Amino acid sequence: MSKPDEMAAAEVFAAILDPTQRGDLYSHYHRLRDLAPVHADETLLGRRAWIVTRFADADRVLRDPDLHSDTSAIELFDTGASGRTFYEVMRKLLLYLDPPDHDRIRGLVTKAFTPRAVDARRPRIQAEVDRLLDRVEDAGKAELVADFGYPLPIAVICEMMGIPDSDRATFLAWAHDFARRGDVSAVTDEVIERGEIASAGFRDYFLDLARSRRRNLGDDLISALVEVEDETGRLSDEEVVSTCVILLQAGHETTADLISMAIRGLLLHPDQLALLRAEPARMAAAADEFIRWDTSVQISQRVGAHAVEVGGRTIPAGDVCVVMNGAANRDPERFPDPDRLDVERETTGHLGFGMGRHFCLGASLARAEIATAVGTFLARFPRFDFGEEPVFRPSLFLRGLARLPIHLG
Ligand code: HEM
Repeated sequence: MSKPDEMAAAEVFAAILDPTQRGDLYSHYHRLRDLAPVHADETLLGRRAWIVTRFADADRVLRDPDLHSDTSAIELFDTGASGRTFYEVMRKLLLYLDPPDHDRIRGLVTKAFTPRAVDARRPRIQAEVDRLLDRVEDAGKAELVADFGYPLPIAVICEMMGIPDSDRATFLAWAHDFARRGDVSAVTDEVIERGEIASAGFRDYFLDLARSRRRNLGDDLISALVEVEDETGRLSDEEVVSTCVILLQAGHETTADLISMAIRGLLLHPDQLALLRAEPARMAAAADEFIRWDTSVQISQRVGAHAVEVGGRTIPAGDVCVVMNGAANRDPERFPDPDRLDVERETTGHLGFGMGRHFCLGASLARAEIATAVGTFLARFPRFDFGEEPVFRPSLFLRGLARLPIHLG
């Protein structure tokens, strides 16, 4: 690549990282993909990383069994004694494990997330959606992130884990502080301290719950984790805690983000909104198009023990491939007219749920929650529009809206 192109690509990547430019993210992705589809960068991770924006390259990286989770990413969370509990929880997260530990632990919880298991949960998801929308209707207006997007997935996953209603508010606060601590770009002493309180809170709570489930098994996820211990070997306490935390964390913020971003997408594409109102049966398939069009998990990191060829460039062993899932999903080579939300399009193989070994465990559950939430919202509110401007959160790793004020009626 020529020197001027390299400099231009670095400038575009700086705009991608700029938290004030979240609304323009996808136009920057297009420019980077055109200039340097595999772009060498040292600013994102503080060491050399290869930014992958083309669909074919991203798909190839995620499917490659010789590329592993980037465990060095966890070291970024090592802030010493003051942040130890959070760091210990992160080290055993499924996302950062390789076989055989990864497959052993994933195998214990997979059953709870199959399409059939999710179907059995639909009445509970619907009931929670109805309850939240009753409150929105009574209020006559909504800030959809706080009033709808956020509380729904946390209620669903807490119920699956057997966490009683009375503990949900505490969980929501811990989940929030834990997620903030996970954003390496915004770590302050206060964030570390709150992250520790949240991590210790999760650890003590889940260990207690696991102990009580061992004595008295139920049909919740924590029982599933402890029940098979005799056959497959006992999960360590750390594994129990980290697995519960990833289910809770991966299971709520992502889905919450998608619900509000889908509603924003429909307001920006009135023809698609009209189509879904006229043909609600399309909603199940539309959920994947919402995720393709604007997704929450923007980045997946992988590292090879050997050098790999990606998009004509050689990535040395030990260097990180940073797959930009959102950029890949807007690659015109794979999805024609990619910036258009089109609920009739074929979305098979999109990378919003990742691909390969770490493919999202909760994809079926997320689809069910999004389709139920957005479908019911449309059915109950024949007219709605943007209130004040939506506000994006600064994070690039986990993209989402901080606020989506909506006028009803
Ligand atoms: C729309 C909502 C969601 C999106 C966009 C999403 C996206 C993703 C992505 C991209 C990955 C792969 C990350 C990587 O390769 O580095 C992933 C992994 C994962 N997701 Fe989701 N997710 C969503 C909802 C959920 C839900 C509802 C759950 C479960 C309760 C869940 C649980 C997980 C878990 C456990 C993993 C790690 C899997 C592994 O490492 O084997 N996710 N998700």
